[in-house]
Amino acid sequence: MLYSGKMDKAIIVDHLIKNFEVTEKKQGIMGAFSSLFSPKKKTVKALREISFSIKPGELVGFIGPNGAGKTTTLKVLSGLLYPTSGFTQVLGFDPWERNPKFLKDISLVMGQKNQLWWDLPAIETFELNRAIYEIPQKIYKESLNELVDMLDVKKILNTQVRRLSLGQRMRLELVAALLHKPKMLFLDEPTIGLDVVAQAKMRDFIYDYNKRCGATILLTSHNMDDVINLAKRVIVIDKGKILFDGDLRELVSRYAKDKIIKVYLSKEYDVKQLEKIGKVKKIDFPQAVLVVPRATAAAAAAELLHHFPVADLTIEEEPVDEIIRKVFSGEVKVSKKK
Ligand SMILES: Nc1ncnc2c1ncn2[C@@H]1O[C@H](COP(=O)(O)OP(=O)(O)OP(=O)(O)O)[C@@H](O)[C@H]1O
Ligand SMILES: [Mg+2]
Repeated sequence: MLYSGKMDKAIIVDHLIKNFEVTEKKQGIMGAFSSLFSPKKKTVKALREISFSIKPGELVGFIGPNGAGKTTTLKVLSGLLYPTSGFTQVLGFDPWERNPKFLKDISLVMGQKNQLWWDLPAIETFELNRAIYEIPQKIYKESLNELVDMLDVKKILNTQVRRLSLGQRMRLELVAALLHKPKMLFLDEPTIGLDVVAQAKMRDFIYDYNKRCGATILLTSHNMDDVINLAKRVIVIDKGKILFDGDLRELVSRYAKDKIIKVYLSKEYDVKQLEKIGKVKKIDFPQAVLVVPRATAAAAAAELLHHFPVADLTIEEEPVDEIIRKVFSGEVKVSKKK
């Protein structure tokens, strides 16, 4: 099936299962010896029937702890891994067919892997990609200029890649991945290892690329700033199962058990008294930060205003990264939707 502009789903994943068959190594020399003759097979269930769909132009955060199945999913969707069972469709194609038209429309960028040739300047890899993807000269030039501009890499195009910093290299990796203007972008940990300035630049670029080119983006990251700043919708996966699929704000309001009350006191006050209202997280006169259960936050605030010398007061949500950390650590139980 060919991609048509009117397609209402850019990605369809339906009951996708991916198992890896691995041989278990036994320990010690005797173990190695016996493994050789009677290798013990084990099945790793990386994806246990996951289903979701993504509309064209959406930017979705795909998050979960180590080993959850994120990279496996992205590899299946880009046609690098064959699914054990289930249905997957990307831009109207079965990814596994690796149809040339499909390959021209997608790109997978992995923060930990690189496609640039280490000993060559990046510009030479770009030229190679132009040939591989059969990008017409005019479009290549336009696309290259635009990307070089957006990612600010003009000065390093002719430097041997091995001499560049990680941040510089990652920006060039993105140029390489986007030269053919893919409609679908799979980003696996695009900010890993980057310093905060480079992370912010990378995020701005991703945001822009999504907006400007209307590209569909599926992004994994352990960096909550990436998720919070880029994705409105998140899919949470753990142990090969999808635990949540929806608005990031909904995730927060559903799983945030507490609220944070910040008060400014007009005079010093006994901490013990404040502790009667909620858990005192920080006190640094004139400011005090209290953690209170969500359900009683309003009552706690009223009590503070009534009985304490309060100059100012705000009630805030728990930080998103804190909630996600709790979800992953099991402090907060996520139940499957529906
Ligand atoms: N080629 C492989 N052979 C065997 N097992 C694999 C293979 N690739 C992944 N796995 C296993 O599948 C599971 C999911 O791995 P995956 O790389 O998808 O996790 P992830 O969510 O990307 O984790 P991380 O956050 O650490 O990148 C893990 O248990 C992993 O060990
Ligand atoms: Mg991974």
